[in-house]
Amino acid sequence: MESIWKRTIEEENELIPDKRKSLTGDVHTEAAVIGAGLAGILTAWFLQSQGVKTVVVEAETAGSGQTQNTTAKITSQHGVIYHKLLETLGREKAAAYACASQAAVGEYERIIREQAIACFFEKKPAYLYTREKGEMEEKLLKEAQAAKSLGLPASFTKKPKDPKDLPFSIAGGVRFEEQAQFHPLRFLHALAKKLVIYEHTRVLEAEEHCLITKQGRIFADHIVFAGHYPFLLRPGYYFLRMHQERSYCLALKNGIIPSAMYLGTDEDGLSLRGFQDMIILGGGKHRTGENKNGGRYGMLRRKAEEFWPDSREYAHWSAQDCMTLDGVPYIGRFCGDIPNWYVATGFGKWGMTNSMVAARLISDRILGREREEGEVFSPQRFTPSASAASFITDGVHAARDLGRRVFQKPEISLEELPAGQGGIVEVDGQKAGAYRDEDGELYVVSIKCPHLGCQLEWNPDEKSWDCPCHGSRFDFRGRLLDGPAENGVDTTEELC
Ligand code: FES
Repeated sequence: MESIWKRTIEEENELIPDKRKSLTGDVHTEAAVIGAGLAGILTAWFLQSQGVKTVVVEAETAGSGQTQNTTAKITSQHGVIYHKLLETLGREKAAAYACASQAAVGEYERIIREQAIACFFEKKPAYLYTREKGEMEEKLLKEAQAAKSLGLPASFTKKPKDPKDLPFSIAGGVRFEEQAQFHPLRFLHALAKKLVIYEHTRVLEAEEHCLITKQGRIFADHIVFAGHYPFLLRPGYYFLRMHQERSYCLALKNGIIPSAMYLGTDEDGLSLRGFQDMIILGGGKHRTGENKNGGRYGMLRRKAEEFWPDSREYAHWSAQDCMTLDGVPYIGRFCGDIPNWYVATGFGKWGMTNSMVAARLISDRILGREREEGEVFSPQRFTPSASAASFITDGVHAARDLGRRVFQKPEISLEELPAGQGGIVEVDGQKAGAYRDEDGELYVVSIKCPHLGCQLEWNPDEKSWDCPCHGSRFDFRGRLLDGPAENGVDTTEELC
């Protein structure tokens, strides 16, 4: 299972970068960035361009995290958000958010042009659409008015400009002009090859001016946490302020390629965009750790069959996104007490745009230039009216999921577990997670999340164990896939 971006870049052999070195011994630098995804690479790029000696440290390889799993839309259109931001944060802050997001599109265009990066960057309109007449249609009308009032190039429409774009009719939509799409790994690797990056080097601990890894230490004046989800419990307490969501994608050949980007706002809304001769079809989102019945890829495949009967699947993959309490990312100072630490996280489903916003804000701040729009993204902001509902929901989830480990009974006996399926079983009087592969081989792991102890749930679409509390994920062998956990879960031998 690999994304369209990973697969296409692997097929273009010359674009695969040479293996980068891990850290060996101690280094001293002005800025250290944790995470070689797009936010980290762009931040390092801006800093280095301004003469700040910068290194990037990455637990795996550059671009191997969420950057390779995105749909790679660069937009100021972030779902139905502007009407809510106006109501909860006020006009000034909502306008700052809108302006920073739209500026990110232009900034990508500038870098790509100046650096002559061949990454299939294309300006396209982006649509939010609903297929349901009534309430959602009304909501989108208000969203168009709100976005327009904040200076964005938005308008309400009853149908796409090109009627061939969608294989279904819509009740209404918001069209944003001047948006863009690209190939994220081609862009990332073009910048990454000009930076110092230590790969396969996981940061284990952070001190005020030092990052500690197994291979050595990095001493830095400034430290940027740009690794998707901050691995530290404290300071910052980001695990209390975010949850994670998953969504699924197919890349399809032999369909009608849309001339714009689309995102459905209904419960079962789909995302569409084109890439060369393929359609990227996305959907099936759910909170991480809540996909016990699976079927997300199945749903997308049925849609593909219905809409483009001659289509052929080229790739399928999934993405994981950090969702903040008020829907605005956390970008800025990591915490009040350590002034030289910065954070970029909680990008929601808008990782490309928010990576650019974060890189511009954080690099400017390190260079001593405060941007006005920084306040709306500040991790230290207090936004009770925008955050209260999510804070309560996330708290209820955490309490329920912690309790489940103690009170919930195993679902099936180990003997009954069919081939190709996973579930919670009892082993020697203890609950455990088991997966039996198609050949009958059994894999048994602990279902206690090593982050804070919640009970993991089986995700049949990914054959992974996912944590509903904060979204850590592990493969069926127990190996870590996604944080905030830093280690895999115990396996059979360790359980016995
Ligand atoms: Fe926090 Fe599992 S991710 S308890």
